[in-house]
Amino acid sequence: MANCIATQEIHQKYGGVVPELASRAHQEQIVPTIEEALSIAKMELSDIDAIAFTRGPGLMGSLVVGVSFAKALSLAIKKPLIDVNHMKAHVLAHFIENEGTAPPSFPFLCLTVSGGHTQIVEVLGSNNMSVIGATIDDAAGEAFDKAAKMLGIDYPGGPELDKIAETGNPEKFSFAKPRIKDLDFSFSGLKTSILYKIRDLSQDNSDFVRENKIDLCASIRKSIVDILIDKLLKAAKQRGIRTLAIAGGVSANRELRRRLLALEKEGYKVHIPQFEYCTDNAAMVAIAGKFAFERGEFASQGVSADPRLKW
Ligand code: KG4
Ligand code: ZN
Repeated sequence: MANCIATQEIHQKYGGVVPELASRAHQEQIVPTIEEALSIAKMELSDIDAIAFTRGPGLMGSLVVGVSFAKALSLAIKKPLIDVNHMKAHVLAHFIENEGTAPPSFPFLCLTVSGGHTQIVEVLGSNNMSVIGATIDDAAGEAFDKAAKMLGIDYPGGPELDKIAETGNPEKFSFAKPRIKDLDFSFSGLKTSILYKIRDLSQDNSDFVRENKIDLCASIRKSIVDILIDKLLKAAKQRGIRTLAIAGGVSANRELRRRLLALEKEGYKVHIPQFEYCTDNAAMVAIAGKFAFERGEFASQGVSADPRLKW
C-alpha cells in the first residue's frame, strides 16, 4: 500500500485556500503523485483492479481534476471507476489495515470534524450511515483556523494552535458557550466571543495577545473540544451507542484525542485514527473504494464532480 500526499504550501502564502490555485496545483501534482505511489507500492498500472476517486463534497476545481484524471486513466487501462463521498471516506478511514488495532464494530458514532464539516455520523454498516447532527454555521476546523488567525498564527492555524496550547492554562479565559438544540453545533458565537475578548483586553494592553498567546490557545482549544465532546456524548446517550470514533482533520487534535480516550474509563469503546489518516488522504478514498468494489458498485464515464454531494 502507498498513501501519498502532495502538500499544497501555496495556501500558507495566501492565508487560506484559493480555489484557482488549489486546482492548478492538483493538475500539476496528480501524475507525479500517482507515479510516486506506484513506486512505493512496487506496482504497475496494470496491477490495479479499479480507480476510486472523490466525487464530492469539496472545491469544484480540485474535484474536476481528480474526476477527469480518473476517467482518463480508466479508459487508458480499461479498469472500472468507483466514485467516493469524501465525508464517508473520512469515516471509513477507520477500516484501513492497522497492525494490532481492530476496526470499530457496528453500530458506532463517528464525530467527523474537518475544515468544511462538523458532523455526528451514526454508522450502522460500511454502506449504511447517516448524519444525525451537524454544524449550522462554521465547521470545527474553521473555528480553529479563524481563532488562530486572530492570534497571528499562519494558515492553517489549527495544528499550530494545538501545539502551542499544550503548555497553556485552559482555564485562564472563558468564552460564550453555544446553546444549540438537538445534536447540532454552532461555532460562530464562540468566534465572536474570542474576537471581542481579544479586542477588549488589547485596549488596555497592546501586547495582550503576545503575552497571553499560550493560555489563549489552550482556552480556545478547550472551548471547541468541550462543544464537540458534549454533543458526541449527548448523541451516544440518545442512541444508546457505546462505541465512539473521531475522523477528519480536527481528529488530529491532541486534546480531542485525550478527551475521547478518557471516555474509556466511563465504559465507552473508542477509536482514534492514526495521524496520517485524520487529515485528507488517499488511503481513505481507497478503502471506501474497496467496500464499493466488493458490493460491485461502479461509476460510469458520465459521472461528474459534485461540490455539494449529499449522503
Ligand atoms: O479533513 P481535513 O484535512 O480537510 C478538509 O476536508 O477540510 O481538515 C483540515 C482541517 C483544518 O481546518 C485544520 O486546521 C484542521 O483540520 N486541523 C486541526 C489539527 N490538524 C488539522 N485542528 C486542530 N488541531 C489539529 N491538530
Ligand atoms: Zn477532509
